[in-house]
Amino acid sequence: MGWSFSISVVLFLALLFQIHGSGRSFAENGCDLFQGSWVYDDSYPLYESSLCPFIEKQFDCRNNGRPDKFYLKYRWQPTGCNLTRFNGEDFLMRLKGKSLMFVGDSLSLNQWQSLTCMLHTALPHAPYNIVRNEGVSILTFPSYNVKLMFSRNAFLVDIVGEKIGRVLKLDSIEAGETWKGIDVLIFDSWHWWVHTGRKQPWDFIQDGNRTVRDMDRLVAYEKALNTWAKWVDANVNPTQTRVFFQGVSPDHANGHEWGASAASTCEGQTRPILGSRYPGGTQPAELVLEKVLRSMQKPVSLLDIATLSQLRKDGHPSVYGFGGYRGLDCSHWCLAGVPDTWNVLLYALLIQK
Ligand SMILES: *[C@@H]1O[C@H](CO)[C@@H](O)[C@H](O)[C@H]1NC(C)=O
Ligand SMILES: *[C@@H]1O[C@H](CO)[C@@H](O)[C@H](O)[C@H]1NC(C)=O
Repeated sequence: MGWSFSISVVLFLALLFQIHGSGRSFAENGCDLFQGSWVYDDSYPLYESSLCPFIEKQFDCRNNGRPDKFYLKYRWQPTGCNLTRFNGEDFLMRLKGKSLMFVGDSLSLNQWQSLTCMLHTALPHAPYNIVRNEGVSILTFPSYNVKLMFSRNAFLVDIVGEKIGRVLKLDSIEAGETWKGIDVLIFDSWHWWVHTGRKQPWDFIQDGNRTVRDMDRLVAYEKALNTWAKWVDANVNPTQTRVFFQGVSPDHANGHEWGASAASTCEGQTRPILGSRYPGGTQPAELVLEKVLRSMQKPVSLLDIATLSQLRKDGHPSVYGFGGYRGLDCSHWCLAGVPDTWNVLLYALLIQK
């Protein structure tokens, strides 16, 4: 069965998406912006990281000593159409008087940071104001009255300190109160769901009336996403708010996935994988996310960056990160770099409508 079975499933799903227009985004002409390949483009990167005054050390690979530069030079080319080049002024004009918020973990921070650098370097003379803190970081462009925020929230659902310890509540989503009234919301979650031991920020999981020490993490993730989906279905007015979900950003910690030895990692990778297919296949968490988005009533656009990012084994900080890290970072992305393309795609989806 193998191939022909999976191909017919894919075709069936593609048809389903096109008919319902949810989950994945297709342009009017049927072009899937997320299907394509990386091409060398000498006009890239979109900005010099040294000109972005608020870039975090953990993403600032060039300044941290990364010597190779090819990874900066790739542009995402959809197979069926061309992407509009990012226009920072147009982006801010369209958002005039509005607010945009990334809600999620440090991959969400990675994308927010990329967008702030893209906008500042596109409009270096536009006054701005930046507030960084643990909970919410805000970049404001007062002359456009635009607010771009990042709210750190790794699970989307709540973690509450109780007598027994820290409880991760799969059915409770108090943070939703802070998302009301935002014009553009871009969520992400996954990477913290796999943590165990000291990196795990909870002691128990509450699932309905059941409180357990642990459970299958993909199952927990799906339950939490369903809680999030119910929140969106109940609280978002689609004529006022656009909702996006960032697809699952891939790690490159195991070379087996792309046909190298299992000992190889993102370290020393200087070129993307050419073509459109990642040998390692789709991440299970991505499948869970897509399943939940398909079940929703309100329109949510999947910012479907999973596969295109899988092709970028060269895009991680590796040993040139160090934002409080020691050693190898094959999860986050250098800036300038791959998240700039996530924002080019976000821009494309925003202007499509
Ligand atoms: C995309 O751009 C290339 C180069 O400018 C052009 O040759 C091609 O016709 C364009 N494709 C579409 C679908 O617009
Ligand atoms: C939880 O327990 C209460 C009282 O025992 C019950 O009424 C309720 O239906 C239960 N909820 C779930 C989700 O099982």
